[in-house]
Amino acid sequence: SGRCVVAVDGPSGSGKSTVSRRLAGVLGAQYLDTGAMYRAVTWAVLVSGADPHDAEAVAKVAGEIDLEIGTEPDAPYTHVDGTPVDRAIRGPEVTGAVSAVAAVPWVRQLLVAQQRKIIAATGRIVVEGRDIGTVVAPDADLKVYLTASAATRAQRRSTENATDLTATAADLDRRDRLDSTRTADPLQQATDAVVLDTTELGIEEVVARLRSLLDRSF
Ligand code: C5P
Repeated sequence: SGRCVVAVDGPSGSGKSTVSRRLAGVLGAQYLDTGAMYRAVTWAVLVSGADPHDAEAVAKVAGEIDLEIGTEPDAPYTHVDGTPVDRAIRGPEVTGAVSAVAAVPWVRQLLVAQQRKIIAATGRIVVEGRDIGTVVAPDADLKVYLTASAATRAQRRSTENATDLTATAADLDRRDRLDSTRTADPLQQATDAVVLDTTELGIEEVVARLRSLLDRSF
């Protein structure tokens, strides 16, 4: 089992996290959730009392914290200065502010550098995010872009988080728009990515397709 880097990008609710973790598990690879890193910085910004729209204040917080990310697919974790933040970073406050924080170029520089280090250190890893195939790991062995209809994505997220469907749909739409239109590393399909629409596909089916694509490329 040699080097194998899989980049999984796509909007929220496309099935990225579940598919990436599962794929990492069956490949005996590590799993890196880059969204958790942007969420962790956002959590630290909110705790510090800084305004998430104040790029300078956000950059300062990002530079000061010690962010540790666990990459075992069975037990991923996120620590900020030694404190587990796994639950807090999924809350509505962080979700509402993360796109603003992720749009700050310096934050992206810091996190992309950390992500590249983790990838280089493991060599065998499934990485999920928005800019993995385009920016973080342009030389990945397989690039996947997952999509699903807006209705399906909202449905999945509202079931997952037990939130109101209409509000969830509006939030997804807002975040997609911010993530796709920002200047620094926007959500974008890599030209060499395999696009998979998961609207009608179960998790196991998506994972099986990705495995067969990997088999073919080695
Ligand atoms: O994937 P998740 O929904 O947890 O990501 C949260 C937010 O983090 C996204 O809406 C996006 O603003 C940001 N993000 C990013 N680049 C990544 C991963 C996440 O900008 N590689």
